[in-house]
Amino acid sequence: MDTHDVLSVSEVARRSGFAASALRYYEDQGLITAGRSSSGRRRYERGVLRRLAFVRAAGNIGLSLQEIRDELATLPASRTPTKADWQRISRHWRTRIDDQIAALERLRDGLDSCIGCGCLSLQRCAFSNPGDIASAQSPGAAYLPAQLRRVAPRR
Ligand code: FES
Repeated sequence: MDTHDVLSVSEVARRSGFAASALRYYEDQGLITAGRSSSGRRRYERGVLRRLAFVRAAGNIGLSLQEIRDELATLPASRTPTKADWQRISRHWRTRIDDQIAALERLRDGLDSCIGCGCLSLQRCAFSNPGDIASAQSPGAAYLPAQLRRVAPRR
């Protein structure tokens, strides 16, 4: 394999924007794999950069670590995933992304209104959330779409 295609931990960290500790964490979680050099140091195939970009993007649209792992598990481990492999994954995502877009639009259009967070600071809250009735529904901004109330996966 061309050395240009094999990257060290620091090269992957610099190019992907993830800390070396995050790379080890994702390796432990089975999201990425690394080989070893003759001196035992981690070495990554260049294709790992696309996997890491996928991990970050998936996290940003609310996929849990388990969901990210399940998606990446559908990719061939023995070779760099092809366009067709990624297309298959993106089809899975399409519904999820559409839901996320709809949720963000509701957020954009609802921010000047009561979001049921318990602050009771807007005039509108007196009508939409009298006495903070929203607290009975869920913690956080009860009136925001569920996608926007999830705790984001670690890192
Ligand atoms: S905006 Fe916070 S309770 Fe209405």
